[in-house]
Parts: sequence; structure tokens; C-alpha cells
Amino acid sequence: MKHFIDTENITRAELERLFEIAFKIENSKPEKFSNKLNGKVISTLFFEPSTRTRLSFESAVYKLGGRVISTENAGTSSSSQKCETLEDAIKVISGYADAIIIRHPDNDSSSRAASVSSVPIINAGSGSYAHPTQSLLDAFTIVKSRGVGRSVVRNTASAGGLKGQSKAIGSNNLTLDNLKICFIGDLKYGRTANSLIKLLALYSGIEVYLLAPQQMCLTDDVYALMDSKGIAYKNCKSFDCLPKDIDVLYQTRIQSERARDLKVDTKALKITKAVLDKFSQNTIVMHPLPRVDEICTDVDTDKRAVYFQQAHNGVPTRMAVLLTLLGENF
Ligand code: NCD
Repeated sequence: MKHFIDTENITRAELERLFEIAFKIENSKPEKFSNKLNGKVISTLFFEPSTRTRLSFESAVYKLGGRVISTENAGTSSSSQKCETLEDAIKVISGYADAIIIRHPDNDSSSRAASVSSVPIINAGSGSYAHPTQSLLDAFTIVKSRGVGRSVVRNTASAGGLKGQSKAIGSNNLTLDNLKICFIGDLKYGRTANSLIKLLALYSGIEVYLLAPQQMCLTDDVYALMDSKGIAYKNCKSFDCLPKDIDVLYQTRIQSERARDLKVDTKALKITKAVLDKFSQNTIVMHPLPRVDEICTDVDTDKRAVYFQQAHNGVPTRMAVLLTLLGENF
């Protein structure tokens, strides 16, 4: 793997290897990984606001012993203000850093960056198109909710390490096969749902339910992908259409910054305690965050609400991406 740009090109073996590394990080003493990126400099280049993605990436770099050079607000504080092209900026920064983590409003920004970069490009969100490391941490969160993390690490530890074990444990334990998931909210302008659906296309028996305002349905290319990959899907009008034993309610916020003129009524899409109580005790509630008001705060204390743990899973999964692209000997 040279870059980490979208979820369409990743293979199931690569994804499961990333899960294994993230589990290993979580279950090891911090010292085991704390010098893996010694001497490496990573650039975080953010043209859009971010809290979780940027800080969890920067935390991941520091935990691996690397260092960060950053433009938090690249749209206004970098040379793009002076009309420098993204391509020129990347050519320059790739001479300063060993990898570039980029968030940008253009859908094709990461692939354009990768086409001119001499160092790995990691997409930290490109327009409404993709957010692959979010999908990785989302998928990791779902795998963990299925209770496999401990057994994976026990198996690998008893075999003396991760390397030789990946094939043996991969397909059985780290699976998202047969997942029933409902994506709720802004599925048109939000990048997290379509990125995760593309990742789920690696698995079989996936059932996708879609609960979005009419103006915010998934884009045609994602429907086409689900058709071509045999993912079963259903457009729903309310929570009542969903199976009670659904595995995941994946809530998202309305992307008001991308759909400024659209006024939508989202009351019926809100997850309240009463809504959650219609579902099984094993149904988890996820959200990439930030939330506005689409999940009531009284849901937070329910054990099925995993969105804060989900955000925390950004650190080991992003460490796994950095190690895969840059690390030696792990
Ligand atoms: C998401 C994003 O930026 O796409 N946030 C995140 O990275 N955790 C979701 C959002 O902003 O709504």
C-alpha cells in the first residue's frame, strides 16, 4: 500500500491486517510502538475544520515517536491564499515530510495530491466523496462490538507475532459479513456513509438500510456500487421500517456547510432513548461526530451508544495506517 486514498481500492486482506495491527497496538504496552516512526516527520494539511481526525492523527504520530508539522487552517494560512495550486503545495511539502495527511473540500484532492507526491498521501476527508480512515475506524468499531479483539490478540500472541497469523485468523474473526446497518441523515453530502458502504462491499450478506431526507439520498454512484457488488439495500421513511435486530444505527449530521440553501426537517430522524428502545440490546449507535442534535444526549449513557469509543478508535487505527505506510519492522 503506497497511499491511503479511498475505500474502493483496499483489499479485504489489507483491511484485516490493519485491524490486526490496531488490536495489537491496543493490547500492547505503549513502549512496544513508541519508536517505530523515530526520525519521521508527518505533515497534517487541513483545508477544512477538524477536531477528531487531525488530533487523533497527530496523537497517533506522537505515540509512534514521529513528529508533526501542521497547517490547521490551510485554506487561509497557507500559500493557497496566494493562489498556489494543490499540486505545487504537495510537491513542496513532500520535500519536508515523510507523509502528508490531507483534508480538502475537493472530491479529487487526495488523488491529485498522490499523483504528484513523492511521499505517501493519507486522505483525511475529501469533499463529500471519501473519508477512508473514518471508515477504517468505523469498521474496527463494529468488529470490536462483535467481541473479537481479545481472541485475535490471544491467537496471535500464542503464535509468536502477527505476521504469520494474518491468513489463519483473518477471514474467521475479523469479519463484517452478514452485517445489517442503517445509515441515517445526510447521505448525499456526508462522506462517511458512502465511504463505509464502499468498504462493506468487501463482505458478503450485507444489508444496508437508508433513512435520509429526500434531498439527501445517497448519490447514484453509491447505488450503482451496491448493485454491482450485490449489497441488498432498502430506502426507508422511518425507524419503524428497520429490523429490530439491526446491528448498527449509523447516524450522521446534516452537512450544512455543503448544503447551505437546503432546509430539511430532520425531526423524524432523531435518535432518542425511546427510538433506541425499539431495537435489540445488541444494536449499537454510531456517529462519526460532531453531532448537532441528531442523537439526544440521554442516549449517551446507554451501553449501546458507542460514538465516543468510536472516536477514540481513531488513534490505534490511524497508528496502523501510519505503520503500514511508513513503518519497518513492526
Ligand atoms: C466527519 C467528517 O469530517 O466528514 N467528521 C469526522 O471526521 N469525524 C463527519 C462530519 O463532519 O459530519
